Amino acid sequence: MFAKTTAPAANQDLLIWKMLFDRQTALLHRRAAPAFSQGLARLGLRREAIPDIRELSEVVYEETGWQLAPVGRPFDPPAFFALLAERRFPIVTRIRPMHAFDFSPEPDLFHDLFGHVPMLLDAGLANFLHELGRAYVAQPEGSPAREQLWALYFFTAEFGMVQHEGRPMLYGAGLLSSAGEIHHCVNEYTPRPAFDLASVLRTPVTGARFQNQYFMLPAWELLTECVAELAGLLSAAWSLAA
Ligand SMILES: [Fe+2]
Repeated sequence: MFAKTTAPAANQDLLIWKMLFDRQTALLHRRAAPAFSQGLARLGLRREAIPDIRELSEVVYEETGWQLAPVGRPFDPPAFFALLAERRFPIVTRIRPMHAFDFSPEPDLFHDLFGHVPMLLDAGLANFLHELGRAYVAQPEGSPAREQLWALYFFTAEFGMVQHEGRPMLYGAGLLSSAGEIHHCVNEYTPRPAFDLASVLRTPVTGARFQNQYFMLPAWELLTECVAELAGLLSAAWSLAA
């Protein structure tokens, strides 16, 4: 079922949405992971109208059991992961201004709706996010484990890449929603090490404009396997800070 679309946004917001939608769909041709393209098609997201978040949430809920939570500004990690643990995903209600067209330094409506929501329809990624949220809230406040779970989220759901039929494909929302970062991550000189859970957990998140490296899943199924591996580490009381 497709989401109904309404257009309550100001004309300027709709213009920015259309321009971003057109450019990102063109740039992502043969570059986006199959899960993204399938999710975008299933949701019926289109350039002509900014989706109504609550109506889109009903569609996502029917498909996956997840709900979308409109928020005025990006949440800090504890509040963000607490939502994930409840199978809810926050959607920032404001779209980026024109001067941040190529690269929005913080999540905006386009990043969340276009970059994250289609990926939520992939059962593997949705379960990964849920387990990550549960693992995060189970750790003590201020613990190193929380920082490392944040890194795991960051280098997968935000900036993850995956090998598909011999090609590097994008599935992280920070890549899917940013033309500037797409050009950077596919550059032949940008490091793209193979995804390895222990390495990712130990890689600090930086505030760089573009990431220094992007972790590449050798296969999409490894994201699901990573959940089991993470659960094993946590249940064995493995010190994430080691
Ligand atoms: Fe994001």
